[in-house]
Amino acid sequence: MRKEFLVFGGPLIGQEEIDEVVDTIRSGWLGTGPKTIRFEQEFAEYLGVKHCMAVSSCTAALHLSMLAAGVGPGDEVIVPAMTFCSSANAVIHAGARPVFADIELPGMTLDPADVIRKITPRTRAVLPVHFHGRPADMDSLSAIAAKHNLLIIDDAAHAIETQYHGRKMGHFGDAACFSFYITKNLTTVEGGMVATARDDWAERIKVLALHGMSKDAWARYSDKGYRHYEVVGAGFKYNMTDIQASFGLHQLEKIEKNLLRREEIWRAYSKAFANFPLTLPPEPLPDTRHSRHLYAVRTKADSPLDRDSLMEELYRRNIGTGVHYTALHLHRFYRETFGYKEGDFPNAEAVGASTLSLPLSPKLSDEDVADVIEAVKESLNK
Ligand SMILES: Cc1ncc(COP(=O)(O)O)c(C=O)c1O
Repeated sequence: MRKEFLVFGGPLIGQEEIDEVVDTIRSGWLGTGPKTIRFEQEFAEYLGVKHCMAVSSCTAALHLSMLAAGVGPGDEVIVPAMTFCSSANAVIHAGARPVFADIELPGMTLDPADVIRKITPRTRAVLPVHFHGRPADMDSLSAIAAKHNLLIIDDAAHAIETQYHGRKMGHFGDAACFSFYITKNLTTVEGGMVATARDDWAERIKVLALHGMSKDAWARYSDKGYRHYEVVGAGFKYNMTDIQASFGLHQLEKIEKNLLRREEIWRAYSKAFANFPLTLPPEPLPDTRHSRHLYAVRTKADSPLDRDSLMEELYRRNIGTGVHYTALHLHRFYRETFGYKEGDFPNAEAVGASTLSLPLSPKLSDEDVADVIEAVKESLNK
């Protein structure tokens, strides 16, 4: 049995990131500045999207996108019932109501047929989550949005490297939101990004991310001299700092190389678990690329252990795991606020009760991967 606990989602940080952070500290420019702007430009280049705005989290990115979309009180936004809470909370922060729809199986992304059932005259937008790195069915969702005149705001928190029909995120919806949280495929410790092709949204998001100050306020973050600014709206403090961007610049350089390692680990797990009493994550659909953000297995009715017991057994063997996620509508807040109940979204509930994410990070050594496989094997008495 391995001696040290294997932390779930540990990031791979190299000397380049450390040197860049030190350089930033020494430069005296620690807040939002030239490195943040460079990170925005390089991220936009990576995606091939016109505008990228770096912010403090994906939650902030989603919130600002809702505001740029003009979503507000009286509006509804359709959100998958299987996602992280901030996908729905961003809608609530904008004053609107999240309306849950079920996911399709085995892909676990938003079910277009259920989206159609949930559309009302108040629906303004759809929020597809590219779940675990697998793209949602954007052909169907785009057609639905076009027919019903809905906006699309992508929750691409898991999906930096994801591609759908040869295109990356930021090319489908009106805006795509990314997370650089510590466990994500690219980390700035905390951080996020909005990508959009729309000039008007980019402008609004930039202003709202910095207190609602007019664009000139950003000149404070350059050496161009003082410029007076005007507050044009009640904005937020959602800007990214150059310390965060220092991580981001080098994490972005390595993202494709790291994806190769993620794919290698994914293949090793899928080969080892092929005959285990578990449901393995579905392989990507043709003409798509999966970012391999999370490797989530699901326990079956005839598995020797249920999900929580398997997590416990793995923990006892020093393997950290995660749950992504409990079906959102079953959390107390959404039940009590919106009247959701068990049985409303059967697919999301089935996944939520059985899913378990194994360590998947380019930081893992071959030995770590072998330890995970051995621990799963022993836990299931295989
Ligand atoms: C699907 C999804 N959306 C949004 C977020 C929020 O990201 P952040 O922590 O950067 O606000 C997460 C974070 O885990 C996520 O998994």
